[in-house]
Amino acid sequence: MPWAEAGVLSASGQTAAAALATLGVGKGDTVLIHGAGGGVGGFAVQIAVAAGATVVGTASEPNHEHLRTLGAVPVSYGDGLAERVRAAAPDGVDAALDASGTVAALQASLELVSDPDRVGTVSFQPAADQLGVRRLSTERSPALLTELTELYTAGRLRVVLQQACPLEHAADAHRAVETGHVRGKVVLTVD
Ligand SMILES: NC(=O)c1ccc[n+]([C@@H]2O[C@H](COP(=O)([O-])OP(=O)(O)OC[C@H]3O[C@@H](n4cnc5c(N)ncnc54)[C@H](OP(=O)(O)O)[C@@H]3O)[C@@H](O)[C@H]2O)c1
Repeated sequence: MPWAEAGVLSASGQTAAAALATLGVGKGDTVLIHGAGGGVGGFAVQIAVAAGATVVGTASEPNHEHLRTLGAVPVSYGDGLAERVRAAAPDGVDAALDASGTVAALQASLELVSDPDRVGTVSFQPAADQLGVRRLSTERSPALLTELTELYTAGRLRVVLQQACPLEHAADAHRAVETGHVRGKVVLTVD
């Protein structure tokens, strides 16, 4: 595994895996993942699919084909989100993970998932407390990292890198992240 991918897997990969485990996502579940084309969300999609779940993911239109390649049914965020998710998952949504950091994602999740204990966010969101949405555990561990490297080795988990920048171009990396529309992850490298 290249170092740039290893850095991403151990960070966002473990965040996604720990969050899904806290929500108890597994075989037979239908899970909604907000920000499914981003760093954490992209891992969450693949890990949930590998666990046997059906995934509906939110992203902007240019990322829909990318979400399909990860294994998710893509849905656009914005007005009417809950209705679009219902159409994509007519049998209902069992759990929802917010990796977008938006209040709209939390509200739609609470509307769609009957058990509020299975709705959570990994983003810092004051609104989560007000709405009663769980801030999920993202505790990392050697066991979790082992599971992820096994999935990677088996070809069931891809690390998506939008760009890898040498450290002296850190400002460019920050500008890319600040757009809020990175596909996968931006990585800084040191030779
Ligand atoms: N607790 C932890 O350990 C931990 C670790 C890492 C990250 N985080 C948190 O997790 C969140 C995600 O991090 P990340 O690195 O995955 O971020 P990211 O790569 O920047 O992804 C953000 C995603 O949000 C989507 N998005 C942008 N505007 C949106 C909107 N209005 N509604 C819905 N989705 C929208 C983007 O999709 P499009 O590009 O398709 O628009 C993008 O895929 C952040 O809040 C971060 O702070 C927590």
